[in-house]
Amino acid sequence: MVRFSVLTIFPETLEAAFSASLLGKARERGVVDIETIDIRQYAAGPHLMTDDAPFGGGAGMVMKPEPIVAAIEAVVGARKHRGTYGRKEGAGAGAGAEAGVGAGAEAGVGADAGKRARVILLSPGGKRFTQEMAKELARERHLVFVCGRYEGVDDRVRAHFVDDEVSIGDYVLGGGEAAAWVVVEAVARLVPGVVGNAASIDSESFVEGLLEYPQYTRPRVFRGRAVPDVLVSGDHAAIAKWRREAQIARTKAERADLYARWIAKCGKD
Ligand code: ADE
Repeated sequence: MVRFSVLTIFPETLEAAFSASLLGKARERGVVDIETIDIRQYAAGPHLMTDDAPFGGGAGMVMKPEPIVAAIEAVVGARKHRGTYGRKEGAGAGAGAEAGVGAGAEAGVGADAGKRARVILLSPGGKRFTQEMAKELARERHLVFVCGRYEGVDDRVRAHFVDDEVSIGDYVLGGGEAAAWVVVEAVARLVPGVVGNAASIDSESFVEGLLEYPQYTRPRVFRGRAVPDVLVSGDHAAIAKWRREAQIARTKAERADLYARWIAKCGKD
């Protein structure tokens, strides 16, 4: 069981995402626990403000640190989270970004590090999210995602109160919510019991550094295009060979970067 806590000022947008399809079913079956937490609940003052003008001037608003950190501490509970008390403390602003996802588990931040919550800030400045990272996060017990909004988040949150900063790609979203959906879904489906057929995870794109082979279903001929004969031959060895070759050819044609890495890893062409 992995617990996912997503801190956002728009919980309703993510609730819809987490209630449907694969994630909704996994939640119902109790194989994952996914909660959305409204950061505004932890805001103070008559207007429950979660953002304010930037020191030094400039356009836009910045998310205030107090509600975010109060929300993190409420969800993490009495146990101190790694971001504040682990490897990042004393590292100074900016140093944490180099550590990258995974450093917390290896840096000996405590024998029970894996049992503690791992707090992740979603932001375009973070380490790029990959299938490799998804696999690693799926081994955690409790993942806490902080969704930033507006022009950014007070940098003290990033520097001292989170373990990792993650980006889903080199583009800027209006906030971390869409990124949280992406990351939660990619990680949750690797948690045992979420995807019915575990073999389907092993064979999919990126798992071994190659894209997936093409899949077909009925009808055998669609608008004049037939499925490859080998797939209806019943010859399992021939099918496996065809699929492997198709994976390699497809990766070479579509993703030269992945192909080069795969060749370097297994030393063949
Ligand atoms: N927030 C805004 N843009 C983002 C991105 N690319 N990845 C993660 N969080 C974000």
